[in-house]
Amino acid sequence: MQNAVVTGWGKCIPPAVLTNDDIAGFIDTTDEWISKRTGIRRRHISHVNTSALASVAAQRALAAAGLSGSEIDLIILATTSPDTLIPNIAATVQADIGASCGAFDINAACSGFLYGVGLASTQIASGQCHKVLVVGAERLSYYIDWSRRETAVLFGDGAGAVVLEGVDGDRVLGVLGYALHNDPGGREFLKSEFGTGMNRFDPESLNFYIHLDGREVFKRAVHGMQSLCVRVLEEAGVCDAEVDLVIPHQANARIIASLAGRMKLPMEKVFINIAQYGNTSTATIPIAICDALDEGRIKPGCNILSGAFGAGLTSAALLLRWGDRTTPLNSSDAELPPCESSAMELIRPALDHFCN
Ligand code: ACO
Repeated sequence: MQNAVVTGWGKCIPPAVLTNDDIAGFIDTTDEWISKRTGIRRRHISHVNTSALASVAAQRALAAAGLSGSEIDLIILATTSPDTLIPNIAATVQADIGASCGAFDINAACSGFLYGVGLASTQIASGQCHKVLVVGAERLSYYIDWSRRETAVLFGDGAGAVVLEGVDGDRVLGVLGYALHNDPGGREFLKSEFGTGMNRFDPESLNFYIHLDGREVFKRAVHGMQSLCVRVLEEAGVCDAEVDLVIPHQANARIIASLAGRMKLPMEKVFINIAQYGNTSTATIPIAICDALDEGRIKPGCNILSGAFGAGLTSAALLLRWGDRTTPLNSSDAELPPCESSAMELIRPALDHFCN
């Protein structure tokens, strides 16, 4: 049986930045409230569609692994904000990277990336695949009703990707275990009406903002992530003290602190980068993996515990033992097209629609 080891990683962050003060300029909120209650200071607003963010992140991950797209056996793309539903945007990424393999999108909201890594590791362990690309990509700014302060401050755009490769050997590396769950009783607490339930002839149907019951999701998120993280550690026979780094879904710094507190994991072991990006849903964990590597927080052979939750209410946990390499083999010259607009200019049409 082969172990699924991360050999490549890449992210794509669109350049336009929307600060808390920018948002406080058009709704009743403050930088102080947002940063204290969520940990968020800024987020990025994309000038391109989700698949374009995903393709750049994918190309960077492939370069880091020293692979070309044609060597990939499967593409799994996690997103809740695809630019097209038909076809899936994994197909668009596939065309952009020149791969010839199976490709599909999954919608498990913010847990989607961990769902994807779990499924990829099982494909590798079974011998069905050897090299799998898993991408988390979102353009959540598309959903935002900028007049609703309870959600307008939370989300951002971005993408991250990893390459998982099957590795033989005596040492146990890569995905040591994962767990997936969904709590359908919580599906009304976090939802958007976007979909075939919309009346396509009614302009009101265009108001498909994200509806969030923040307090309820907060409680269920901490509980759901904790129980899955505990289960994954127990099943892998790894104790809390052996966890070197926690890379949680970045939805709220207070949720992360509650999770760490309940699991008695010291905050020095927890990676948090929500201040820079906000909640990019499926993209938060692969982006955080890239940032943790850049900051030297991921060491060869270290045990990384990851937990996520999202609409559904989905939850997932993953225990990963990093391989030997923490530097990319190659770099990619893939770039987004230049952005000529500020973040405020990019959201202006939505602001005019929702706030006037
Ligand atoms: N600025 C200022 N005040 C605000 C804002 C804001 N942006 N938003 C809410 N408030 C006010 C409320 O109106 C309320 O005022 P009141 O006391 O006068 O009624 C007060 O702040 C407290 O509101 P709460 O909702 O209790 O605030 P809370 O501390 O719970 O923080 C938050 C809200 C940040 C949304 C938090 O509940 C949270 O992070 N929940 C989890 C959300 C989440 O993680 N979603 C992830 C999934 S995303 C996906 O799957 C795509």
